[in-house]
Amino acid sequence: MAEVHVIEHPLIQHKLAMIRDRQTGPKEFRELMEELAMLLAYEVTREFPLEEMEIETPIGHARVRMVSGKKVAVIPILRAGLGMTAGILRLLPTAKVGHIGVYRDPEPLRPVAYYCKLPPDLPDREIILVDPMLATGGSAVAGIDFLKERGANVIKLMSLIAAPEGIARVRERHPDVEIYLAAVDERLDEHGYIIPGLGDAGDRLFGTR
Ligand code: PRP
Ligand code: URA
Repeated sequence: MAEVHVIEHPLIQHKLAMIRDRQTGPKEFRELMEELAMLLAYEVTREFPLEEMEIETPIGHARVRMVSGKKVAVIPILRAGLGMTAGILRLLPTAKVGHIGVYRDPEPLRPVAYYCKLPPDLPDREIILVDPMLATGGSAVAGIDFLKERGANVIKLMSLIAAPEGIARVRERHPDVEIYLAAVDERLDEHGYIIPGLGDAGDRLFGTR
């Protein structure tokens, strides 16, 4: 069974506290989400292989290690996953970006897929699937199903906040997918919102309902 990583880094916990706060307005909310995604990307890429090479500095030769041609795809689940994408791309500027559109039908909280555009060489890429909220897990499972149907091999799921129910669902349906999180909250409410969570991530990012 793949691991669930809850990243306790002080900067992540500090920024998570700020993004949860109801007083945080949309501009700051967007900036925090981008920064949190960048910090989580640092952890997601921790095992990337390095290749030794020689370069010239202004005054000599140096044996150095660089990430060896790793092919990555960052796949945000629309809409709220978009808020994390730019932060990841700041660390991984050559990654390809695919999009999966999934929304939760409020009754009976079922994920509905409405858009899909993915890099053609998906099977050759390590995939970082991003969605800030892992609530019932329905959207993430639908996203992973989509990717696997299209040949994806290595998938890592990056979220900010998860409910225990969402983690359990992803692990049951996709035990091979590693999960990276900033926090695991208490529970879901009767509408499928994470308690205490941060509210509706998409609405806070984009100012629409
Ligand atoms: C939110 C969130 C996740 C999903 C999580 O999206 O961004 O995608 O809910 O819930 P789940 O784990 O129960 O599926 P929403 O459906 O509200 O769409 P949006 O991003 O377009 O606002
Ligand atoms: N989606 C959100 O945006 N927030 C939640 O708490 C649950 C699902």
